[in-house]
Amino acid sequence: MANVTVIGAQWGDEGKGKLVDWLSNRADVVVRFQGGHNAGHTLVVGNQTYKLSLLPSGVVQGKLSIIGNGVVVDPWHLLKEIGQIREQGVDITPDMLVLADNACLILPIHRDLDQAREAAATNKIGTTGRGIGPAYEDKVGRRAIRVADLADREALEAKIDRLLAHHTPLRRGLGLPEVDPAGLLAELEAMAGKILPYARPAWLLLDEQVKAGKRVLFEGAQGALLDVDHGTYPYVTSSNTVAGQAAAGSGLGPKGPGYVLGIVKAYTTRVGEGPFPTELFDDVGKHLGTVGREFGTVTGRERRCGWFDAALVRQSVALNGIAGIALTKLDVLDGLPTLKICTGYRLNGQEIGYLPAGLKAQGQLEPVYEEMEGWSQTTQGARSWKDLPASAVKYVRRIEELIGAPVALLSTSPQRDDTILMRDPFQD
Ligand code: GDP
Ligand code: IMO
Ligand code: MG
Repeated sequence: MANVTVIGAQWGDEGKGKLVDWLSNRADVVVRFQGGHNAGHTLVVGNQTYKLSLLPSGVVQGKLSIIGNGVVVDPWHLLKEIGQIREQGVDITPDMLVLADNACLILPIHRDLDQAREAAATNKIGTTGRGIGPAYEDKVGRRAIRVADLADREALEAKIDRLLAHHTPLRRGLGLPEVDPAGLLAELEAMAGKILPYARPAWLLLDEQVKAGKRVLFEGAQGALLDVDHGTYPYVTSSNTVAGQAAAGSGLGPKGPGYVLGIVKAYTTRVGEGPFPTELFDDVGKHLGTVGREFGTVTGRERRCGWFDAALVRQSVALNGIAGIALTKLDVLDGLPTLKICTGYRLNGQEIGYLPAGLKAQGQLEPVYEEMEGWSQTTQGARSWKDLPASAVKYVRRIEELIGAPVALLSTSPQRDDTILMRDPFQD
């Protein structure tokens, strides 16, 4: 396959950034196709740690990097992140970073609305507070400002009027101050000159790249269980996070995504509110959180931790058309005497092998576990399958069996090179 799509197969933070960075040197182009700067992708290369929220992880290896039309873009944040990554010695120029000219913008009014709603809600979603949801609402509501509008003052003025006609009453209801249209226009115009050099028809560039035989790597954000259709709605993000979105969110068409690589953590975590059948509140949960350093990259919040949920990942394999997985953070399980894997659930006395759509049912699921022996040796930093203890191999093989997909890559530490390649997704 010429192209590979990397997606999170759980609730995000599976290690997508690390794997996209690792796979980047086999690719020519890296593309983000959904989400925004709610993502937090951590790359560790030697003694440098890069934290990317909006930039495709390919920038670190100097690859042509595209922010596709499916992404909602906070332009001020983008400029800030470019500055931070440049300070770490990575060169970023409009030659290698391209922003789709038809992507929609996240504005300060979106962040205000996101945060004010969360503050007022009794049933909080636990969002990242970065304006993602309200920006997608305006996109679907056909009143968003898009990147290309920044070059057209007349269009901007009309769009601001339309946008504020919607936002002013909302802001009033939440006790937020009114926005002055002239002030917003001035802010946008002051930023436009810095953003527009990156703006291009990304779909056209991608089409040219593919016709020239280049390999494209799509970088998903969040995870399948945070997908606005397929996730634990309403405790989800506001975009489609599944692999199918790589096509619509980049403009490359349905054949574009190629081999779908699901990134899967060897246990389960989630940040924010919502159902989590295998969540642990005991010492094992604490162990996973501490050893796995499970703190949100974006908000610093503690991630909730639990046992590996094979039913949930099996569902992700189907939803995304996953051909193989990259299993990450196996090393975090080192030293645990017994491991549990959730193979399905019990709901009102009946066995059920998938996550039902109803929120109430999702909250009532009792996980059905099978137990496996742990291992006392260390797997941390292992670079060969042969270095793994027999019980770790058994654990990985059982996961493959239960989810119905093979392990293509195994990650054993945050470091780029602590990665075991079993089969090359670009060759499969
Ligand atoms: P992403 O959002 O999917 O890119 O994942 P994050 O970067 O938010 O979270 C994954 C965290 O685990 C990061 O801190 C990574 O450096 C780290 N990580 C990735 N792979 C491994 C691994 O195999 N072992 C350990 N211990 N940490 C890992
Ligand atoms: P990466 O790409 C984990 C979660 C938030 C919240 C819900 C909605 O690093 O895996 P939003 O701000 O998107 O409206 O919040 O989604 N969430 C993530 N959780 N990893 C992420 O991204 C996430 N992006 C959003 O915590 O529960
Ligand atoms: Mg993350």
